[in-house]
Amino acid sequence: MMNDWAGLPATYGDVLRRAMDSLFRTFENFSEGTFIVDADARVVWINKRYAARFGFSDPEQAIGRDCEAVIPNSLMREVVKTGKPILLDILETDREPLVVTRLPLKDDSGTTVGAVGFALFDELKALTPLFSHYSRVQEELIATRQSLAQARRAKYTFGSFVGTSAASLEVKRQARRAAQLESPVLLLGETGTGKELLAHAIHGGSARANQPLVTVNVAAIPDTLLEVEFFGAAPGAYTGADRKGRVGKFELANGGTLFLDEIGDMPLPLQGKLLRVLQDKEFEPLGSNRIVRADVRIIAATSADLPALVAAGRFRADLFYRLNVLTIHAPPLRERASDIEALAYAMLEDLSTQASGASHFELQDDALRLLCSYGWPGNVRELRNTLERAVMLSDSERIDARALAPFIGSAPGGGQRRQAAADVPSPARAPDAPTGAPEPASWSDAMAAFEKRFLTDALRANGGRVIETASQIGMGRATLYKKIAAYGIGV
Ligand SMILES: Nc1ncnc2c1ncn2[C@@H]1O[C@H](COP(=O)(O)OP(=O)(O)O)[C@@H](O)[C@H]1O
Ligand SMILES: [Mg+2]
Repeated sequence: MMNDWAGLPATYGDVLRRAMDSLFRTFENFSEGTFIVDADARVVWINKRYAARFGFSDPEQAIGRDCEAVIPNSLMREVVKTGKPILLDILETDREPLVVTRLPLKDDSGTTVGAVGFALFDELKALTPLFSHYSRVQEELIATRQSLAQARRAKYTFGSFVGTSAASLEVKRQARRAAQLESPVLLLGETGTGKELLAHAIHGGSARANQPLVTVNVAAIPDTLLEVEFFGAAPGAYTGADRKGRVGKFELANGGTLFLDEIGDMPLPLQGKLLRVLQDKEFEPLGSNRIVRADVRIIAATSADLPALVAAGRFRADLFYRLNVLTIHAPPLRERASDIEALAYAMLEDLSTQASGASHFELQDDALRLLCSYGWPGNVRELRNTLERAVMLSDSERIDARALAPFIGSAPGGGQRRQAAADVPSPARAPDAPTGAPEPASWSDAMAAFEKRFLTDALRANGGRVIETASQIGMGRATLYKKIAAYGIGV
């Protein structure tokens, strides 16, 4: 390294020399030991304290010897050989380890002519707070990374997709094939048909399984925040809460899969940006001039009628074609009624392991017939919610139609379905099955309807206060809480 001092005022060179001089003396004073070697790593100079520590009562005795002969394990030879400093290191000695720093000494032409070493501390204790802080932070980092990696791994496999109907087997076949390929996947189907489950299974069955699976639910994020959510932002890029900057989901998913749920809700400008990233495989976080390469596989899902959105100009045709390579239609539950029994039992199994105490729920034949005759606008999700409620309120582990009926058609996921699902033609029903807006058709329906109305009125009369209501109507407060949850009464 050559320094050109020619253009500097004469005094600058002086200041520099003083800086070097006092720096050396300061280190020499404060360090536990200092020594200097020549280009062959032989000791040129060593201070008294340091020499004494290594058994030389007179420093003169150490001069001219190889550095390793004076200080075992010394790495000064490496410094003179490479010309590179070792700024911080721990030197093991026969007493306590030393924290050392080693710097090469160079002449005006940049040739290494020797090295200087300082032992900064002989008691690591001085550094204990620093080290323990560091190792704690390190441990936390590792734990966080592990749990993140866990969270980003696929939750479901193909085995989690229950169903042996022809439609389900075909869906699984297509999904398995999609897992073998790299092109984008488009999952279409009403809400609750298992699109998210399939996305997990496809990622988990793909070559990217050990890389992250990152999900963005487009419908759940305000339009104004979506771009940052996707692509990230440099620190201070925008005046929001995130002054520190933000890593986008695209970057987080690098090497893995990005699952874009409810992609039909994506605003048009962002659709354009997404298309560009899919084409260029790189992007720039907001407000940065950093180019990020994105090796990301896209799985998109929507319950909306995407071709209709394209026709209406609300979804870009070019993006649609880009995504519409491997398209899988998750069929509605009413078109595969033969899956209902297996699904119900898989869910009851799941619910009994969640419930305290080992329970074993069983469906009576009339309950099963009831499940098969209903239209399930909220699909598998609604089926699950319905069973969950029935199990919660059932006195017996044998669930019959009477116990089940009050919950059919009232579970969330049925009523609160998205627009696209609401447009679905009304399914064929058995004439005696309860409908979406039940005209009480049986005693149990009537009782449930009455109970729901009665509790709603009582709660309303008490301003929504559960404890007061419970004591007023003479019902246990835990029972009331259960019924509020089961009937979905808004308090
Ligand atoms: N074939 C299936 N087998 C088992 N569980 C399913 C199946 N399809 C859906 N589910 C369950 O139903 C719920 C809704 O599924 P999800 O994948 O979130 O649907 P979507 O994304 O289409 O709205 C989840 O609890 C999921 O585990
Ligand atoms: Mg979903």
